[in-house]
Amino acid sequence: MNQTTMRRPLIAGNWKMNGSVAANALLLDCIRAGASGLAADLVVCVPAPYLAQAQAALSGSAVAWGGQDLSLHESGAFTGEVSGAMLRDFGCHFVIVGHSERRSLHGETDAIVADKARQALACGLTPIVCVGETLEEREAGQTEPVVSRQLRAVLAVLGQQLGKIVIAYEPVWAIGTGKTATPEMAQQVHAHLRALLVGVDSDAGSGVRLLYGGSVKPDNAHDLLEMDGIDGGLIGGASLKVEDFLAIAKSA
Ligand code: PGA
Repeated sequence: MNQTTMRRPLIAGNWKMNGSVAANALLLDCIRAGASGLAADLVVCVPAPYLAQAQAALSGSAVAWGGQDLSLHESGAFTGEVSGAMLRDFGCHFVIVGHSERRSLHGETDAIVADKARQALACGLTPIVCVGETLEEREAGQTEPVVSRQLRAVLAVLGQQLGKIVIAYEPVWAIGTGKTATPEMAQQVHAHLRALLVGVDSDAGSGVRLLYGGSVKPDNAHDLLEMDGIDGGLIGGASLKVEDFLAIAKSA
């Protein structure tokens, strides 16, 4: 963690399409109980049908909750979509935008991701914007060009709002695979992203939290999170196990 800046660590859980009312009740209560006194901010991004449950369980606690995606549109004939205003209606402060699963399975382009980040901000939500390269791209030496392209698309639409976003670097090959980037690999990409941010606006850019995601577990969290420039984590599988999620949060 970079001690020279004021960035408070953020540990975000991405439940993906997992959960049930019964399982969530236990998980949310335990996260709430274990969250006080942590040095990191905590947020859980839950499936949309469980937002009311998360709101009821976490209101008044140190834990925030959020969505995993939002519609580009405000309202209307968009069957199946959830708007940013709806997320706000359920007390969300955060929303994941441009997760690699949205990019690869739902055809979200850099331009769509950028528009969703802008829409999130317009609705009063903090977008957690995901960027990251595939294994093929890494092996072709394309990591920095790919994440630069993804981030630049978002920066181009933010205007004065750069300081209001969170970025998560998630190498696609590390998501859900058990393969983690080494702390040094992650740090190198983080330094590159930071340079891009600061190049746009040095004050706002140095305040943006840069998370790492991809198979973060209790046994590797400490080494990743202590790296200069890694300001927290976006946690998938391990966010569904309360003891793992809290252990990761304690490493931050
Ligand atoms: P993982 O997922 O921790 O299960 O690798 C991370 C993510 O997809 O955000």
